[in-house]
Amino acid sequence: MAVEETLVLVKPDGVARKLSGEIIRRIEAKGYSVVDLRMVQPERSRLEAHYAEHQGKPFYEPLVAFMLEGPVVAIRVAGDRVIEGFRVLAGTTDPTLAAPGTIRGDFGRDWGLAVQQNLVHGSDSVESAERELGLWFD
Ligand code: PPS
Repeated sequence: MAVEETLVLVKPDGVARKLSGEIIRRIEAKGYSVVDLRMVQPERSRLEAHYAEHQGKPFYEPLVAFMLEGPVVAIRVAGDRVIEGFRVLAGTTDPTLAAPGTIRGDFGRDWGLAVQQNLVHGSDSVESAERELGLWFD
């Protein structure tokens, strides 16, 4: 067993579309545990820290602007290999390509806008998870 913790964010599109409950249901149905949870209206500085590794990329500004559009639900999730496992549950980044059965594959929409409304974020490594959990939870 490799019990890990990861940060899941239900992004503004997921909150606005009232999918937070469905996303948590899928996390729990998989056997993962919700350890902590909060709804946050993130300030720009927190998002800049969260997405620091993407600064300078073409999607950085649209991504930060999109994340400022509304509240997000931050969830601390624990489970066996949950970091990789949640990303499998979420599906591939681009919702138009995400497999059916995944969160993005079943609910994601690509409106053809600059911003990809892909519903959720999940940490991509142990190091990212530690850093991101520290940003979103005390
Ligand atoms: S990279 O460069 O491969 O690391 O990028 P990727 O992992 O594909 O995506 C990193 C995060 O940026 C978001 N993203 C975008 N947002 C808005 N517009 C565009 N075009 C875009 N492309 C990628 C993507 O959803 C990832 O967000 P998080 O919150 O980490 O899931």
